[in-house]
Amino acid sequence: MSERPRVWVSQPLFDDIVARLGEYFEVDATAAVTQHTPEAANAALRRADGALVTLNDPIGAAQIAGATRLRAIANVGVGYNNLDVPALSAAGILASNTPDVLTETTADFGWALMMATARRVGEAERWLREGHWQRWSFDSLLGSDVHGATLGILGMGRIGQAIARRAVGFGMRTLYHNRSRLPEAVERECAASYVGFDELLARADHLILVLPYSPQSHHLIDAAALAKMQPHATLTNIARGGIVDEDALCDALEHNRLAAAGLDVYEGEPKLNPRLLQQRRVVLTPHIASGSLATRRAMVSLAVDNLIAALGYGPDAGRPPSPLNAPVRAGESVG
Ligand code: DGY
Repeated sequence: MSERPRVWVSQPLFDDIVARLGEYFEVDATAAVTQHTPEAANAALRRADGALVTLNDPIGAAQIAGATRLRAIANVGVGYNNLDVPALSAAGILASNTPDVLTETTADFGWALMMATARRVGEAERWLREGHWQRWSFDSLLGSDVHGATLGILGMGRIGQAIARRAVGFGMRTLYHNRSRLPEAVERECAASYVGFDELLARADHLILVLPYSPQSHHLIDAAALAKMQPHATLTNIARGGIVDEDALCDALEHNRLAAAGLDVYEGEPKLNPRLLQQRRVVLTPHIASGSLATRRAMVSLAVDNLIAALGYGPDAGRPPSPLNAPVRAGESVG
């Protein structure tokens, strides 16, 4: 009997969902949340035909060196800046991610964070818990309105569009900037108008970042960009931490050049820039935008489907639902 393919699961996920891999493969599961060194990931991948990984697992040339059996990497997450897709393609490894299933949940959270930021919910809760509340007062912890304001969305993919659709109910004017302008019908459905980057910064009362992280978007929101925003504006980031220059953000907050910020993602997370912790007017959450139970389960389930199909098994054998590349292995034909 020929040996069954072997897959590596890099982090503990939902056992009952991951168990589906056991129908087809030998599974090397990781029992506790682990920051694998490149050497440890490489050792695991050299034994594997496929792997299920998360944003905690950078997978590039160092991790796949000598992994001659490896044919598929399924990322549990829509963002895939942890994967070096060109390196995986060059090695004939099929990469996949988990779009769509998290769109609405992530948009809900973007709104929660934006509203908490505008209405100073984090600061108010800390103040109350610290025992400062002596009596109700008319002018305590005044925030800014979300309804009727101008919403700026930077990055108008699926999640950006879902955020825009919600803004209709709040009577907001929605402006967006994206690499490419959306078709008119989509703009109409989202009630959103395309503007240039500088105009978006200058006009938004509440700016939310939902664009992918790449060398082009690294520190896109820097001191110069923040200087173009209105002093009463808020900034919410649910994309990737590296898009914002955190020191420039702290400078802007400290000099009242920006009213408040809501951050779910950080450059170098889980380590935090200590200056952020000192800011009163920031709401900080630990990268949980897609974190409803149902959605996290759906993400793992889609990643499992991708891995099974990419390795040529299951009902979608050879046709993973959400591939990121179409690599061709040496000796295989494309036709
Ligand atoms: C994503 O899917 O990219 C989220 O940031 C969580 O993984």
